[in-house]
Amino acid sequence: MNVILVGPPGAGKGTQAAVLEEKTELKHIASGELFRQHLREETQLGLMARKYIDKGDLVPNDVVIGMILDRVFQPDCEKGVIFDGFPRTKEQADALAEALEEHRQQIDAVIFLSAPREVLLKRIVGRQTCRNCQTPYNIYYSPPREEGVCDVCGEDLYTRSDDNLETARHRLDVYFQQTMPLIEHYRAMGLLHEVDGLGDIHDVTVRLVHELGIKNGDSGVH
Ligand code: AP5
Repeated sequence: MNVILVGPPGAGKGTQAAVLEEKTELKHIASGELFRQHLREETQLGLMARKYIDKGDLVPNDVVIGMILDRVFQPDCEKGVIFDGFPRTKEQADALAEALEEHRQQIDAVIFLSAPREVLLKRIVGRQTCRNCQTPYNIYYSPPREEGVCDVCGEDLYTRSDDNLETARHRLDVYFQQTMPLIEHYRAMGLLHEVDGLGDIHDVTVRLVHELGIKNGDSGVH
């Protein structure tokens, strides 16, 4: 089973994908996180992607498609994948569909997660992450016990370079121009499930799990 989570920045794709990964045998693959891993390791790909990410623009299709297709056919993905942040353009969607077909796989469901613009912006600018163990926090919704310090490992928290208000607004514009058309593409294919991303994290998970018909340890859509 392969599931795509699509939606604007701050909709909760990463948060919900992590929960879904725990509840199923599916592997969570996040294009943005793969880029940030390359950035941390200062690889050539990471350095190239940085100039797009810092501005809030999309990294070129050929780069992101190559990176994702290298990842999704590795052995730990054989039970299926939760795609988070990919595809974001029609070209990426077509490349994914073609590659899955070559491996006798398909997209089984596309979850469209959304929330009002002011909520998205507040979630984005409030996000902080542990430098060491990557535990996520949010200064408005889920702050650490001590400001700027990870509850789990005691290391510093950092704010993503693209999580300032100006870049966040641009990321939303880019989403509406370049990614929104995919919603209709997947709706026309009969794959789209709309889930309201407003409300606390657990409430959104309940909606999402209900929509997919997933029970703990189960990876099928019923
Ligand atoms: P990426 O990392 O994918 O960023 P994004 O899509 O902008 O998504 P976010 O991580 O901001 O939001 P999310 O929906 O995952 O929300 P989250 O769960 O984190 O991409 C970054 C960049 O990489 C792109 O701009 C682009 O440059 C490049 N890139 C990536 N993929 C690409 C592609 N396919 N093609 C080209 N370029 C690509 O939650 C956000 C915050 O809200 C967190 O603090 C969280 O704790 C909090 N939160 C979540 N849900 C709730 C809730 N229900 N209640 C309260 N708080 C909540």
